[in-house]
Amino acid sequence: MAPQQNAATLSPCASQVKTKCSNQNRKIGLKKLHEIEQLAGKIHEHCAETQTQLIIDLGSGLGYLSEALFKLRNNYLILGLEADEQRVESARKRCQKFLPQEALNSISYKKEFIKADANSRARIEGYASKLAQSHGMLPGLDTAIIGLHACADLSISAMILFLTMPQVRSLHIMPCCYHKLALRSENDTMTSTTSPFVNFPLSNGLRNAISAATSVGCFNRPFMRLACQETSSRWRKDSFAHADHGRQMYMRALANALCDVEELVKVKVCSKPALLSLEDRDSFNELQQRYQLYSQQTGNPLDWRHVHEERFIQIGKRYSDGRGCRLAEALCCLQTSMQKLCENLVLYDRLCFLKDAAAGQQLQLEVRYEKLFDEQISPRCHVLIAKKL
Ligand SMILES: C[S@@+](CC[C@H](N)C(=O)[O-])C[C@H]1O[C@@H](n2cnc3c(N)ncnc32)[C@H](O)[C@@H]1O
Repeated sequence: MAPQQNAATLSPCASQVKTKCSNQNRKIGLKKLHEIEQLAGKIHEHCAETQTQLIIDLGSGLGYLSEALFKLRNNYLILGLEADEQRVESARKRCQKFLPQEALNSISYKKEFIKADANSRARIEGYASKLAQSHGMLPGLDTAIIGLHACADLSISAMILFLTMPQVRSLHIMPCCYHKLALRSENDTMTSTTSPFVNFPLSNGLRNAISAATSVGCFNRPFMRLACQETSSRWRKDSFAHADHGRQMYMRALANALCDVEELVKVKVCSKPALLSLEDRDSFNELQQRYQLYSQQTGNPLDWRHVHEERFIQIGKRYSDGRGCRLAEALCCLQTSMQKLCENLVLYDRLCFLKDAAAGQQLQLEVRYEKLFDEQISPRCHVLIAKKL
């Protein structure tokens, strides 16, 4: 068993962590460094207080957070789970390259696509038990689940795993975008406790509000999706950038508007038209070069047809003289202004959902958000922290 060190006495000051990170991770941006440093410090503080030694990092990516934690206390047992095999490999290589030899026994990266179901849970428990046993400890050690930028369904799975795995005592999760948000199919059986969205749990309060839809019909898919758009910090800074962005957005809206019911468009991978003459700018030709048409049924690519070009001309007449571009940018402005409100509502509802679910299981829980990051550096700055009492 690795020697137990007193975590509290080992905690270096933030600047020490930063120096270490900066030396070893020249390619990591300031934003990421800031997030890792702040989140690792917070998790470490909590683990020291609760004597938690086993940490499961969900969506561990290249392993930055696990590395920072190991540097704060070198006898943490850290299980990094990541769906992308290449990232798992890179994380292992970084561990060999940048950390002392003993880290290879303490940090274990596994390829795992995490879900909240029983199979995924059993595999996670298996990995965690193996790691604990390899250090002479019994399975079922008090465990913390953590995650930085747990995107799409991952933050939801993290919350459910936290609730359903008795040995997991705490959760520190920094949710990210959840662009997958989809409506349940009409054939799904709905009960009074199911959410109308797929894998997007709601608190009792919000679910009731949504089902009383006549008065609060705004909590629909567009509202929820708005919560996951890019943050206002990316809002363009000058009029040229706005004009350019408005043009792109208008072109994108046009491409969508030209489609038949069974068609959809996607941006071409190499969507910058190579040689675009001045007269081709804003033309149907440019649109064809930027966007690929697909069949919704088969997923196969389709050719743009004459009927699309006719629609392009008709719509173009309605939004001529740059009106379309200005309108598109104005709508983006509205979206950017509302985005934070929508996101805060979803974040707050996650907290309420955890409380409701815990009450249903007679679990005593302390749950809160902490604004852990500097909003100027990292606009998604709230970390969800939950602790079983
Ligand atoms: C935005 S990245 C964050 C990576 C890392 N935590 C960091 O902050 O550097 C999200 C990571 O989660 C992984 N991921 C997303 N969903 C996952 C899932 N269901 N199971 C495992 N990994 C997942 C992605 O492959 C990606 O590496």
